[in-house]
Amino acid sequence: MSSFYVTTPIYYVNAAPHLGHAYTTIAVDVMARHHRQRGDDVFFLTGTDEHGEPVADAAKAQGLEPKDLADRNAERFQALMPRLGVSNDFFIRTSDERHGRRVQEVLQRVHDNGHVYKGMYEGWYCPRCADFKVENEIAEGNRCPIHEIELVLHQEENWFFRLSTFQEPLERLYAEQADFVMPRERFNEAKAFIDSGLQDISLSRGRLTWGVKVPWDPTHVFYVWFDALLNYYTALGFARDGEDLTDRFWPANFHVIGKDILKFHTVFWPAMLLAADIELPKHVFVHGFLLGADGRKMSKSLGNVLDPFEVMDRYGTEALRFYLLRDVTFGADGSTSIDSVRSRYEGELANELGNLASRTTAMITRYRDGELADGEIDPALVAEFDGLAAEVSAFIDRAELTQALEAIWQRVRRLNRYVEEQAPWQLAKDDARAGDLDRVLRTLAEGLRIVTVLLHPWLPESSVKLLDALGAPDLSVGNAGLDGVRVRHVSPLDPLFPKPS
Ligand code: MSP
Repeated sequence: MSSFYVTTPIYYVNAAPHLGHAYTTIAVDVMARHHRQRGDDVFFLTGTDEHGEPVADAAKAQGLEPKDLADRNAERFQALMPRLGVSNDFFIRTSDERHGRRVQEVLQRVHDNGHVYKGMYEGWYCPRCADFKVENEIAEGNRCPIHEIELVLHQEENWFFRLSTFQEPLERLYAEQADFVMPRERFNEAKAFIDSGLQDISLSRGRLTWGVKVPWDPTHVFYVWFDALLNYYTALGFARDGEDLTDRFWPANFHVIGKDILKFHTVFWPAMLLAADIELPKHVFVHGFLLGADGRKMSKSLGNVLDPFEVMDRYGTEALRFYLLRDVTFGADGSTSIDSVRSRYEGELANELGNLASRTTAMITRYRDGELADGEIDPALVAEFDGLAAEVSAFIDRAELTQALEAIWQRVRRLNRYVEEQAPWQLAKDDARAGDLDRVLRTLAEGLRIVTVLLHPWLPESSVKLLDALGAPDLSVGNAGLDGVRVRHVSPLDPLFPKPS
């Protein structure tokens, strides 16, 4: 059994969850569920990033203590997970003391290995990113390119991490491991950042108390990004009472992140791990941004924000999961709107998959009393269904979730065409064609079973309902071929994707 450890970013608790957070989390859930179906030993981590300036500032603005704001919003993020159908194995909060202690241990090691010194820092700082910007990261008007707010000039005495020492090891990493960062354009972006020359970065904050104390200088707390990045490692130490999962799951197979936090994960994070003598994760997958219907950044003031709760209330959780990974190619930027949710729901989930499922189960019930004779599969369709599971797994191994879904969907469409071509309702009128009808029904049942097993990560509930109706509840990818489990007895099925009321 291979282990598969996959993570989302941990989300800031300075505000409530929104579509962007749901997006990454759903994508990671799809990967985790697929790997469980492969029989892998899976650990899926998500959580909240609770320290640092972004949270301290937001709390102050609301007249709250940082911990109170963190508690309130962490609860909302935690409640979001089941609402999204997300199957995370643990939810880490960085205000957890067990996390803090492990952060101190690791960074003490970085200190003892000689990668830390005290110095004066002056630079342009974005308090919303909690990040000092280097020259090529400063937008026009001396603004943060992400938050579009004016940067402030900060000078402070800090502990520094010798990032510059890792120039050569990081160059080597990028030369030797072409899939450390995926997709390729993001790899190039990270590599260009390294090639432009690494400068040492600040590791602590002296004027902040909301954070993990620096063990060798308790007047400072660690810079929130190092505390946050380490969550991926620390969580394994305390996610299960009395058990340390580090050896079982580290190094992580995939950190999945949005493009806004590329530098931290593809440059700072591997350098920090090297400095602490910890093995590096295998891949960082960087996805694009969801945009408003007008193709602009989503923002409340532009009124172009797609509300995930509205989508779920109207069309259900699965429609949101399907839509986000179908309509926007995972990896690229793309616009979103409630109109395109409706059109994917009606046109694909209801009319294509929903109809295929109800036609197939209804015909087997009507013409064969729900019992399927054993028999051959139409040779014209064998090749398309036999290789499908391997094709889908290969896409998911590269986090190409939209391509994986498209490969399955082509087969959903193929089966619908097959129904039209074969017109089983005509065959049923002619007793001499009973053998042909058996073959068509068998082919439809097996084809439908295979696509349904493979669709499980996107549609966890409807796939189970449908497989139950097919009397073949086995979800394993290993059985998603024509030599796998067979459909024998079919029961009637309620519409999977009804018209929203
Ligand atoms: N706390 C840091 C991450 C620390 S990870 C060690 C942070 N938090 S965040 O709340 O701002 O979340 C950023 C992440 O949310 C993005 O990287 C992405 O995964 C997701 N998204 C937020 N807005 C998004 C879009 N508009 N589109 C797609 N994903 C977006 O950064």
